[in-house]
Amino acid sequence: MAYPYTRPRRLRRDDFSRRLMREHVLTTNDLIYPVFVHEEKGRAPVPSMPGVERLSIDELLRVGEQALELGVPVLDLFGVPDASAKTADGRIAWDEDGIIPRAIRALKARFPELGVMSDQALDPYTTHGQDGLIDDSGYILNDETIQALVKQSLAHAAAGVDILSPSDMMDGRIGAIRAALENAGFINTRIMSYAAKYASAFYGPFRSAVGSAGNLGKGNKFTYQMDPANSNEALHEIALDLEEGADMVMVKPGLPYLDVIRRVKDEFGVPTFAYQVSGEYAMLKAASANGWLDEKACALEALTAFKRAGADGVLTYFALDAARWLREG
Ligand code: PBG
Repeated sequence: MAYPYTRPRRLRRDDFSRRLMREHVLTTNDLIYPVFVHEEKGRAPVPSMPGVERLSIDELLRVGEQALELGVPVLDLFGVPDASAKTADGRIAWDEDGIIPRAIRALKARFPELGVMSDQALDPYTTHGQDGLIDDSGYILNDETIQALVKQSLAHAAAGVDILSPSDMMDGRIGAIRAALENAGFINTRIMSYAAKYASAFYGPFRSAVGSAGNLGKGNKFTYQMDPANSNEALHEIALDLEEGADMVMVKPGLPYLDVIRRVKDEFGVPTFAYQVSGEYAMLKAASANGWLDEKACALEALTAFKRAGADGVLTYFALDAARWLREG
């Protein structure tokens, strides 16, 4: 039989050949591990994110040691202040003795070689759960919020953070933060901007984790986060953040937005990151717990898909597990 001449299955027949043909490879170096740091003692589980816990600073140091041992390059810190410390303006966010500056100092003192990143936005710290300051109608004020974000960024930079990551989506905040960093002499503090961040329903479990869900209530973030229907707008947002001084850009959420990652990478060719968000994690965990999906296989497949789409790295709650799985081979 002379047909077919072209048999793509030839190259897939044997393991050696599949390895030889592999176009993209996920490594531990691609992973950023988001962690929640609270004011309480010990650890507290996050019910909607099985395997994720809020950590005291002591426990955070244990996790930092694990990350270092596994070779995960960066921890990304999210603050969980006491509910009683929240205010309408979220001012605890820029307190130099707030939970995140203390966590940064503790990690950098103990593990100077571990990369430390932190989130800039006001939502964990405000009584209304929005990422910025609001006016009487509840509208999020842009330029006033930027002033708060600059103070929060400087507090984190002074504590020694390696990477700032503004997640608020105010217009012009990257430029303002970059100028403030330069003026204060923090010329090596990197900025990974949440440049294309969508108003996504997949953030639900995260809002429970930082304790902003109840405060936000039926509120939404549609006036600042992007419409999930758009992707040209993402390119515009990325171009602005790069021009304003971002070193790296992020697309968020992850798996439903792989097309955006591909467009961003093709258009700009800059370091591009994806955030596999809390809802994506919760879906995989829930299905695996029911025996409907193979957790390890599905998580590694999803993480590899980010690389294929053009991401240089991924923020993922699977980071430590993925590092262990990759080590197991
Ligand atoms: C806060 C912030 C959010 C996430 C990261 N930073 C939530 C939001 O914008 O409401 C989401 C992370 C996740 O869902 O895993 N600005």
